[in-house]
Amino acid sequence: MTKNKTLFVTNALPYANGPIHLGHMLEHIQSDIFVRFNRAIGNKVFYVCGDDCHGTPVMIKAGQMGITPEQMIEITSKDHAEDLKGFLVNYDNYYRTHSKENHEISSYMYEKAKDNGYIKTETISQLYDPEKNMFLPDRFVKGTCPKCGAKDQYGDNCEVCGATYSPTELKDAYSVVSGAKPVLKESLHYFFDLPKAKDFLHDYIKNSGVIQTEMANKLEEWFSQGLKPWDISRDAPYFGFKIPGTDDKYFYVWMDAPMGYLASLKNLCEKTGDNYEDFVKEGSEIEMDHFIGKDILYFRSLFWPATLKAAQMRLPSHIYVHGYVTVNGAKMSKSKGTFIKAKTFLKFLKPETLRYYFASKMNSSAVDIDLSLDDFMAKVNSDIVGKVVNLASRTAGFIAKRFDGKLSSAPYNAEILKKAAAIREDVIKGYQSRNYAEAIRTIMALADEANRYIDAEAPWVIAKQEGQDDKLQKVCSDGINLFRALITYLQPVLPEVAAHAEEFLNTKLDFFALDNPLVDHQINKFKPLFNRIEKTQIDAMIETSKEDLKQAQAQAKKADEKKADDRIEPLAPEITIDDFAKIDLRVGTIVEAEEVKEARKLLKLKVDIGFETRQVFAGLKQAYPDAKSLIGRKVVLVANLKPRQMKFGLSEGMVTAAGPGATEVFLLSVDSGAQNGDRIH
Ligand code: MSP
Ligand code: ZN
Repeated sequence: MTKNKTLFVTNALPYANGPIHLGHMLEHIQSDIFVRFNRAIGNKVFYVCGDDCHGTPVMIKAGQMGITPEQMIEITSKDHAEDLKGFLVNYDNYYRTHSKENHEISSYMYEKAKDNGYIKTETISQLYDPEKNMFLPDRFVKGTCPKCGAKDQYGDNCEVCGATYSPTELKDAYSVVSGAKPVLKESLHYFFDLPKAKDFLHDYIKNSGVIQTEMANKLEEWFSQGLKPWDISRDAPYFGFKIPGTDDKYFYVWMDAPMGYLASLKNLCEKTGDNYEDFVKEGSEIEMDHFIGKDILYFRSLFWPATLKAAQMRLPSHIYVHGYVTVNGAKMSKSKGTFIKAKTFLKFLKPETLRYYFASKMNSSAVDIDLSLDDFMAKVNSDIVGKVVNLASRTAGFIAKRFDGKLSSAPYNAEILKKAAAIREDVIKGYQSRNYAEAIRTIMALADEANRYIDAEAPWVIAKQEGQDDKLQKVCSDGINLFRALITYLQPVLPEVAAHAEEFLNTKLDFFALDNPLVDHQINKFKPLFNRIEKTQIDAMIETSKEDLKQAQAQAKKADEKKADDRIEPLAPEITIDDFAKIDLRVGTIVEAEEVKEARKLLKLKVDIGFETRQVFAGLKQAYPDAKSLIGRKVVLVANLKPRQMKFGLSEGMVTAAGPGATEVFLLSVDSGAQNGDRIH
């Protein structure tokens, strides 16, 4: 048996811009089983997760929904926590990266990295959306593939020919956000010096046993290609934390995402009174285990340890990488109805069906796991219902009716009960090495043997024989004891069934209590613990997932329509009242207005602001084709804007207006009583 230890276990933090689906669930189920198992064998576990809130996609999605990112993450994080609970995933804390703890931790780690010489700056050119005034991440630029000519490909790679390239190589590039043609713009960026950490990382990945060998080999390819400095800054507008010491640079989302593990832990420690520092200091004896998917290997096994090292903090003990979920042998597909949301699954099926199925297929490698729906139904029905629950239901009735719910004082077949206790080491080994499939095979082999034994002794036949009460009680008690062993071993996978079994068995389930079968023991009434899966449930789930797609399409259409007259620009970075006071806005009256013939958009205005009259060129022509109609109108003028020499004359201010542009520009008006020259506060 292992010595008791303390573990800090995390699961990758789901992005806050979409719902939890069955792909995510593989990982949450994997880590939850690991945690429940560790607790079952006496280890202490701190198990945390939370939402990954920052980044451009979250900001854009919130904009499309017409709400702030803060409002959006509020909604999604509740939703995510509810889904995870629904699958019996039992986090001690489900927190978020947009939190004060995470702000402190990521800033601290950055400052330490900077002090230790890991931060550099460089000016780089990047594609920029001139309409939305924002730099465009690769995924927000689309265009024609420079290699094969396929249209509408993302800025980083072509889904048709598989080519990878830089977004500047795209032909006919356009911004996904506005449709505008991107321009190149320079900006100062902050970099984490990954090459400086190369030797340390190489040794850590290769020799510490932190990661599966197949993954270490995969990383070897990246090492041999050479590590590049990692760009950790993003320009405004961005939803994230400002980089300390800068006015307008933000941490790239991956620079505060894994820190979110620690933030969630710290927030938990504040509630439990545990000492957070004990977990993160160099030399900490607490095991730190991360579960992640293979798609985020680079971020999580190179960047994260490197940033920890640079901040002189402890390193992860294990990074457990898993593969992807496929459904019916193919990538989850919205149109086939196999892109199944956690909520949709739970509407039709019990969470433990999926927990069991995933567990029965999971080993410690990162191969993909197929959720084959026919096999799923067959396996759950045959194993959980047919072999485990059935064992209890076939024997409990006799104990209740004939022996007042009391188990015999000795076993009939002591050997098989010994065996049930003896497989414990194999089961433990399976769970411990995350080879859950092996653990389940061992447990099911015992279930088969138990059922063969009951079939052979046939209590329903003994029950009809005279003078066989003693044997009947003993055989049935053996059946109950075997059920107890099975459900004890399955507890990490089937926690709710196990909790009901505890009530029925009138005892706490405990791996190490199995050496002592329950004798002379009173059990409670048996209630059905699990229902068979019916094909109709699965069909309904697939149909609903297709409906989800239709709904999403309808929503996307709406969003597209909205985009056509999109009024919602991302919110500009926060300013102080002093910043605002720098802008001198004055009430004025348009006293002259004429069109500038040579310009498509411009009107030439004279605006009386009380103490003087200003000449202003304003892009109002399309919206106000009858220029003269503006004469006499009160407006709000930006009066301290630096004068600008234009082709047609000097522009000495700006009249304020709202709207997306062209014909939709709307001048601000001023209530009566305000005088020309009044300042706007
Ligand atoms: N936010 C990052 C992780 C930050 S960790 C500090 C992220 N989020 S995610 O929502 O895209 O994915 C969360 C986890 O779910 C990842 O580990 C990812 O591999 C996993 N999965 C997402 N889709 C999956 C499947 N279809 N199958 C299995 N796991 C997949 O990445
Ligand atoms: Zn291509």
